[in-house]
Amino acid sequence: MRVLSGLKPTNRPHLGNYFGAMRQFVDLQTKGDGFYFVANLHALDQVRSAAELRELTVGVALDYIALGLDPARATLFVQSDVPEVSELMWILGSVTPVGLLERMHAYKDATAKGREADFGLFAYPVLMAADILLYASDVVPVGKDQKQHVEFTRDVAVKFNVTYCRDFDPQTGKGGALTLPEPLILEDVAVVPGTDGQKMSKSYNNGIPLFGTDKEWEKATSRIVTDSKGVEEPKDPATCNVFQILKLFLTGAERAEMEQRYRAGGMGYGVPKKMLLAKIHERFDAPRAKRAELERDLGQVNAILARGAERARAAAQPVLDGVRRACGLSG
Ligand code: TRP
Repeated sequence: MRVLSGLKPTNRPHLGNYFGAMRQFVDLQTKGDGFYFVANLHALDQVRSAAELRELTVGVALDYIALGLDPARATLFVQSDVPEVSELMWILGSVTPVGLLERMHAYKDATAKGREADFGLFAYPVLMAADILLYASDVVPVGKDQKQHVEFTRDVAVKFNVTYCRDFDPQTGKGGALTLPEPLILEDVAVVPGTDGQKMSKSYNNGIPLFGTDKEWEKATSRIVTDSKGVEEPKDPATCNVFQILKLFLTGAERAEMEQRYRAGGMGYGVPKKMLLAKIHERFDAPRAKRAELERDLGQVNAILARGAERARAAAQPVLDGVRRACGLSG
């Protein structure tokens, strides 16, 4: 079973990225043949500084390895190190109805906000479909916001297979040149609120950084917005931003106990905030140290990425050969 996912190198990762997607990557590496890549081609329409893009790209690789992704087990690579993906994107683009792209949330949201869309933003889902299909991925772990993209990928794969592959059976999804992928979404943690209660997102500037400094962690946890209930008043954990983040770190028993303390009253919001800060340290101090160590040895990281790209290209070759033959680009 091939498990594949990508992460865009557009920002330093925050807890929302971790609980929404990154943690799944690390957990899933024991369950299948994991392919994880840094989507630097996808970042081009957002990051317009070469130096910054280089730094963010290596940064995401460091993040994954520091969080426990084992390069001996999973394949970690940089998207643009496999140029085959761009060719497949063009081929897929040739069977993609424009109407389908116009209905994608990311494009609709951006244009609704008045952003002038470039072709990269519009075609983003086609490149993502190429990422997924090039490696015959079976399962794609992603945050909830990416579900539509995986469904789009299936639609495009079906379209290609129906158009070009005589043996393709739409009932079973088998017999085509392209494998149909399934999204894998962790529903209960898919949306992590930020310090202001909106979805944690770089664009809202409400994130808690995954690899922050002590100071950044302290500042971010203390600025989480709460209501103005006094210490003695009973509080509702379900509507408390602090609890919504804290609960991601808690076991069932810890969670029940904390909910109890909220409802009983007599506890100010400082208590769960401090507890959250302690939990962040407990979970991320060691990965943070490992990341710092890797950062001092980038040669090792680059070697890991080079090996990853080699493995990824080897997996891509037979798929692209099949696609080229199916549509008549080769004999
Ligand atoms: N679009 C994804 C995101 O913004 C990143 C991504 C690019 C991706 N290609 C992918 C995810 C392929 C899964 C599979 O997070």
